[in-house]
Amino acid sequence: MPQYLLKLRRYDPRSGEAAYWDEHRVDLGGRSSVLDAILKVRDEVDGSVGIRCSCQQAICGSCGVRMNGRPGLACNTHLEEAAARDFGVGWNPSEEGDEVPAGVIEVEPMGNMPVIRDLIVDMDAVHWKKIQRVSPYLINQQPVPEREYIVPHENMVDITQSMACIQCGACVSDCLSMEIDPGFIGPAALAKAYRFVGDPRDAEHHERLEDLSEDEHGIYDCTHCFNCIDACPKGVDPMSQIMRLRRRAGTDEKIVDRNNGHRHEDTIATLVRDYGLLHEAEMLPRSYGGNSWFGKFHPAAGQVLLRSLPSIVPAVLRRKVNIKIAVFGHKIPKPDLDAVKKLYAKIEGREQRVELNLYVSGFEDEPEAPPAETHGTGAPQDDGPATSPHELEAASESESS
Ligand code: SF4
Ligand code: SF4
Ligand code: FES
Repeated sequence: MPQYLLKLRRYDPRSGEAAYWDEHRVDLGGRSSVLDAILKVRDEVDGSVGIRCSCQQAICGSCGVRMNGRPGLACNTHLEEAAARDFGVGWNPSEEGDEVPAGVIEVEPMGNMPVIRDLIVDMDAVHWKKIQRVSPYLINQQPVPEREYIVPHENMVDITQSMACIQCGACVSDCLSMEIDPGFIGPAALAKAYRFVGDPRDAEHHERLEDLSEDEHGIYDCTHCFNCIDACPKGVDPMSQIMRLRRRAGTDEKIVDRNNGHRHEDTIATLVRDYGLLHEAEMLPRSYGGNSWFGKFHPAAGQVLLRSLPSIVPAVLRRKVNIKIAVFGHKIPKPDLDAVKKLYAKIEGREQRVELNLYVSGFEDEPEAPPAETHGTGAPQDDGPATSPHELEAASESESS
């Protein structure tokens, strides 16, 4: 039986002591879960180890922790998988003759939430508060239909991905925006918001979208870092749900928020269309000026520029920013620029936007396809999203739009 070295981060705020690493060797196979190992330590060695868990089947969402630097469910992560993560976790023999362990796993509490004790974080203080912020319930259209409300199949498929959330908080744990701005509504709550914005039975789509756009900690506060996508054990893909909220708000509902989030997003897309690459000197005027009567030099853009000077000047001095390129733009060959423009014309010329939910595909009454040949392809054989090459192609096209 291989021996894994488990390093548990222990901390009790009431004790006044600093956090420390508590090391234990566990005799378990690599296919046992990290939660199995933690519970073994708790049951056989130290009953005071704090860990929250219930179902042990990746359903209840209560065992979220960080394992070798990555958030996830302890019950859904094999020891060998966690140990294989390249996290630079070292092993130093404490005594002569110490056996080299099969793997070393550091288990820490999730980030962006206060620690209650050891591996248990205060979900009420952050995660649940943010879920409450987005009114996580259906607001019925009036009058309420006398018979059941039949929801079109496409709408159910559209929101099924966000409905798969088990509220584990793993995405919240590693959200870079929340680290900088704890007020950010965050990936889990915004994915929950899409669950109702995408539901035709809800009566307040516009109000919800306006609220989330106008809030300076709302949908435009996400920086597309992709961490929530990597962290989510259920494939909810919170960042994509946020992008959908933005498309609904900016494109469908024509909401231009006071934080200039929509204008800024539009600026990036139109700069690439016009110049082939970002044109830094145009960024602020377009994001703030746009069509306003201030024209190109909106006073707010000047204020932002002044506030940014402490960052810009050192960047210029260290040659991270080239003033000539920033002011006059990048030069890209004409054929390349023409190819970019052609791509934009194709996407913008579509009559209908292609929105695909990769979590669910097909209809229940479709005949079952024969099992795909996956041997030797390296393709995953798990129960992830059923996705055909055509769907992937269409999805990438829709993302780029
Ligand atoms: S993509 Fe956005 S919401 Fe997701 S973790 Fe990054 S900043 Fe947070
Ligand atoms: S979106 Fe995913 S990671 Fe975030 S709370 Fe829901 S299940 Fe957990
Ligand atoms: S114990 Fe329920 S999800 Fe892990």
